[in-house]
Amino acid sequence: MLEKTLSGGVKMPVIGFGTYKLADPAECKNTVFTALKEGYRLIDTAKAYGNEEAVGAGIKEAINAGIIKREDVFITTKIWYLSFETDDCIKSIEDSFEKLGVNYIDMVLLHWPFGNVYAAWRVLEDYYKNGRIRAIGVSNMEADRLIDLIAFNEVRPAVNQIETHLYCQRSGEKEWLNKYGIAHQAYSPLGHGSANEMFKEKAVEELAAKYGKTPAQILLRFLVQSDVSVIPKTAREERLKENISIFDFKLSENEMNILKALDRKTPIIGKAENPEKVESALGLK
Ligand SMILES: NC(=O)c1ccc[n+]([C@@H]2O[C@H](COP(=O)([O-])OP(=O)(O)OC[C@H]3O[C@@H](n4cnc5c(N)ncnc54)[C@H](OP(=O)(O)O)[C@@H]3O)[C@@H](O)[C@H]2O)c1
Repeated sequence: MLEKTLSGGVKMPVIGFGTYKLADPAECKNTVFTALKEGYRLIDTAKAYGNEEAVGAGIKEAINAGIIKREDVFITTKIWYLSFETDDCIKSIEDSFEKLGVNYIDMVLLHWPFGNVYAAWRVLEDYYKNGRIRAIGVSNMEADRLIDLIAFNEVRPAVNQIETHLYCQRSGEKEWLNKYGIAHQAYSPLGHGSANEMFKEKAVEELAAKYGKTPAQILLRFLVQSDVSVIPKTAREERLKENISIFDFKLSENEMNILKALDRKTPIIGKAENPEKVESALGLK
């Protein structure tokens, strides 16, 4: 499994398994177990997904079956912004430990940059310093807010998990992430679903035919080859295998440039700095 070394020295797999929408406990547990069996070594969950317990159960089952040891799997969870006040944040993290059934967590992210981000970040810094959380980071944070967070705190975010895919490549943001040594992790790397037209892009279809791969594999390979790690979600076993089988071919520089030119700079889930999005997320309209 290819890994990326984060700023604090911790190694993070460049592909992981996303569990958003895997809310049914039995389905979530079984899919996490299957993902680990198929070779995934990073599982991405969040307090807001309501599935930390099922994720923990799937991991435990894989450990009990001898497929992995605890230290082989990188577990990411996130804190929801309504829990960013100090005491709520500690409570949320302690609840994640309990639900996941672990005594350390590999990475905890601030899910959205709303509310008392600074209080929550300082709680994360404490957990990072005492070693119970190995890496701390943010999600959905644009470069301006990232720089501000860095300027007024001690520990820099190791990762920014942000919507990134063919139509929303974030090349401008990536330059800022590189400047501050923050790893870029793509959520919704398949554009949040197969109905998306990016699977039918002519260039994507042609590359899929050329390399004997599927459009999803081309889209994931494109990101990983651009130094962006990915956490695709699927509930289907055949797609779990498909999505992780992207390390036996390489796109040429010209092919990478063709795909880069298809950027529309348009997120699907939304931009954190979009005032209407923030208003609606925070219940102000
Ligand atoms: N930090 C954040 O704010 C945030 C926001 C959103 C997501 N995330 C994380 O990122 C993960 C991935 O993002 P996402 O779930 O939004 O979207 P995604 O991974 O881009 O797309 C998932 C969708 O694509 C389908 N799919 C998966 N593999 C496929 C394949 N090989 N061919 C065709 N269709 C395929 C899945 O359907 P099936 O299940 O039917 O296969 C599902 O509908 C989430 O699960 C979550 O862990 C984080």
